[in-house]
Amino acid sequence: QVIKLKDYQQPNFWAKKTELTFDLNEDHSLVTSKVHYQHNPGHDRTLTLAGLSLELVSVHLDHEDLNLDAMDYSPEHLSLKDLPDTFALTITTKIYPQKNTALEGLYKSNGKFCTQCEPEGFRRITYFLDRPDVMSEYRTTIIADKSKYPILLSNGNPVDSKDLPNNRHQMVWHDPFPKPSYLFALVAGDLGCVEDEFTTKSSRKIKLQIFVEKENLDKCDFAMQAVKDSMKWDEDTYGLEYDLDIFMIVAVSDFNMGAMENKGLNIFNSKYILANPETATDSDFEGIQSVVGHEYFHNWSGNRVTCRDWFQLSLKEGLTVFRDQEFSADMNSRGVKRISDVKVLRNSQFVEDSGPMAHPVRPDSYIEINNFYTSTVYNKGAEVIRMIHTILGKDAFHKGIDTYFNRHDGEAATIEDFVKAMEDSSGASLKQFTHWYHQAGTPRVNAELSHQDNKVILKLQQRLPMTPGQSDKHAQVIPITTSFFAKDGKAVPFLYQGDTKTEHVLIFDQGEQEFVFEGFAEEPIPSLARSFSAPIHLDYQYSDEQLIFLMTWDNDDFNRYEAAQNLAMSLMKKRQQSPSYELPDEVLTAYKSLLASKTLDPRIKARALSFPSIDYLVSLEQEANIEAIFETRSWLQESIGHSCYQELWDAYHQSHKQDSYQLDAEGIGNRELKSVCLSLLLATGKEDSVALATSLFAKSNNMTDTITALNELSHVNDPRRQDAFKSFYDKWSHDQLVIDKWFALQSSSYHDHVLAHVKDLLEHKDFDLLNPNRVYAVLRQFARANPKGFHHSNGEGYQLIADYVLKIDKTNSHIAAMLANSLSQWRRFDKGRQGKMVAQLERIKAAEGLSKDVYEIVSKSLQDS
Ligand code: ARG
Ligand code: ZN
Repeated sequence: QVIKLKDYQQPNFWAKKTELTFDLNEDHSLVTSKVHYQHNPGHDRTLTLAGLSLELVSVHLDHEDLNLDAMDYSPEHLSLKDLPDTFALTITTKIYPQKNTALEGLYKSNGKFCTQCEPEGFRRITYFLDRPDVMSEYRTTIIADKSKYPILLSNGNPVDSKDLPNNRHQMVWHDPFPKPSYLFALVAGDLGCVEDEFTTKSSRKIKLQIFVEKENLDKCDFAMQAVKDSMKWDEDTYGLEYDLDIFMIVAVSDFNMGAMENKGLNIFNSKYILANPETATDSDFEGIQSVVGHEYFHNWSGNRVTCRDWFQLSLKEGLTVFRDQEFSADMNSRGVKRISDVKVLRNSQFVEDSGPMAHPVRPDSYIEINNFYTSTVYNKGAEVIRMIHTILGKDAFHKGIDTYFNRHDGEAATIEDFVKAMEDSSGASLKQFTHWYHQAGTPRVNAELSHQDNKVILKLQQRLPMTPGQSDKHAQVIPITTSFFAKDGKAVPFLYQGDTKTEHVLIFDQGEQEFVFEGFAEEPIPSLARSFSAPIHLDYQYSDEQLIFLMTWDNDDFNRYEAAQNLAMSLMKKRQQSPSYELPDEVLTAYKSLLASKTLDPRIKARALSFPSIDYLVSLEQEANIEAIFETRSWLQESIGHSCYQELWDAYHQSHKQDSYQLDAEGIGNRELKSVCLSLLLATGKEDSVALATSLFAKSNNMTDTITALNELSHVNDPRRQDAFKSFYDKWSHDQLVIDKWFALQSSSYHDHVLAHVKDLLEHKDFDLLNPNRVYAVLRQFARANPKGFHHSNGEGYQLIADYVLKIDKTNSHIAAMLANSLSQWRRFDKGRQGKMVAQLERIKAAEGLSKDVYEIVSKSLQDS
């Protein structure tokens, strides 16, 4: 049941060519696959194919019709012995896409057929060597009713189409690039299409198509622009050009994840395609740009060079997240993007890394691979790539990427292959660096500074926490990008390793290390790990005064934000230690001048005034006192709200006045700052702040402001709350994606009766247990974005989530496992909550017929409990 990396073996046979025929019908579909196999020399002559819930109809070995009674098969496998060197195996299976609620393999969403095959969905379509190292050339024939399914799509290029009797038609697609089965895709339905064109650097014209339901044709422009920008960016940045003549995207409303990079035919959760200013917020637009980029970039990092096995998942995901982060940074503000990415990392990956599901970027075992599409594999994986970029420098990194793609084009590669390409092209050794791939846990780095004569000595110490199954750890290579500031606010040029500059990258690779720099007449203030140069916890004892200094003077956007975060944490800590502590004038002045600054990007202001999340604060503690964390965090917001009321009010109105709704940096910045000001004003509970939110809601002409206002009103105990939710629902009840927001805001509300509200939402006529976006909007939002409701001391939040884990596991184990994971952090809480969370985990574990997805999460969560 446990799959291990060390057991990897090549398959006994390769599948060189695959011909598929889909006969799509209303209650079942027939799939015929003719696969040309070739023996892998030196291996056994038994071929064992994977299946899942398959009904076998017939098998032909070359032209011989095999007797099924004499065959070794089940819904989960099909095995043949003593096979020749080459042969064609033709298998027909019967499947039921209409009943497929797991949303893996071939399924139906809103009247359309679509597929999701990564990681192991193809085996729900036909018996196959469903593993990424088996790469095959596909030819796909789709047959369906012509009126219901006028559009028939698959990977590659269309090669033939014709009408058939009984109002049916067929379409044939051919994909010349060999690919693993997880990249296969098929779509059939009555879809509208937006078309455009991109000319590549070698002057090839690529046809671009986005397929959506016809009523959504007016919501594709932004996504289409993102496709063109992505294609251009990959050419400009890495010289990587698109390869097929046509690039298609389909948006579907039932999808487990964000999107999927199937060759030439990306399939998206409609949330990451459909948008216009009336229906989408600024952050929806950002999400669309980054996911469109992400899936497009996979065409090279994932498709042309794929993964040998699923342990290598970060080879494609970490690299592709890094690429999409850089794409967004180049298209928008780099500093703001970095702040967002680190926030995601801290709120999910650091939390994961501190709990029972902690695993290395390259895991070495799993029960269900679907459970490893994690922020560790994706986001920490991207940080590891980013560190290689920082350590080798841009030029060497780009050379390494060239080498990697040239060397492995058309292959299924490993993380070692990637690292080797980087080493060979740079001449550097990354041997010690690769511990980042194998060791779980977030390193803690302690920094101390001393000043003597003209010198500064920086002493660093690293400590790697124990994580499940790993106690003995090696020191990691940690790049620490460092600057120093003098009292006048200027960065000091300093001498290190023969070079004098204002910023140096220190390579910290021992347990304890001293760095000596020259060029300091007076003791400077350090700015360490700039731009978050490594995914670590950094401890340096700054005084509040120094943090205020860095908030004002640091010329690294991220570290300026970081200083504000650290200041907030320091203030909260002081308040926790002494309940009579109040914010001193220097602090208030600092916040006021931040707000008043004429030069600072409004989004950096906004981020500096948003405080660390409850989840992140909890993850830093042994047994967190969540009540105290809540209380002090609210106290901080309220104190700033009260003391800076006028300044916040002015900044709000200033931003509001400047904002004529433009979807550009200035407009987005104004709206974000407006939102943060509004939230601090409402923290005071003052009547005119509630009135302000109510009026913003009433007068808004775009979804960003509407959601800003509705979010604030969601926490208020006042009839204006109900009125706003009602009018929002009446206006948008026809639009699923907008109604998801309506559900989500109520689930994350800090209203005292939120649990009852959530229970009502689960009974609402628009709630649909089979639609992942809706389940996320209500249940994941409650469990992940509402610590106040979910962690209520009565434990009813835990019980509700456990009830739904069990319910949803019967239809979609992937979603159920994701939900179950929200109970895994139990060790971080007080004994009372621990007991209640463990009791729910145990109740889930004891349930009959549990999927292995949920089993893996709950059993690992309970280990040594
Ligand atoms: N490869 C996709 C992406 O990150 C994610 C697909 C994961 N699907 C899943 N069922 N785990 O772009
Ligand atoms: Zn991906």
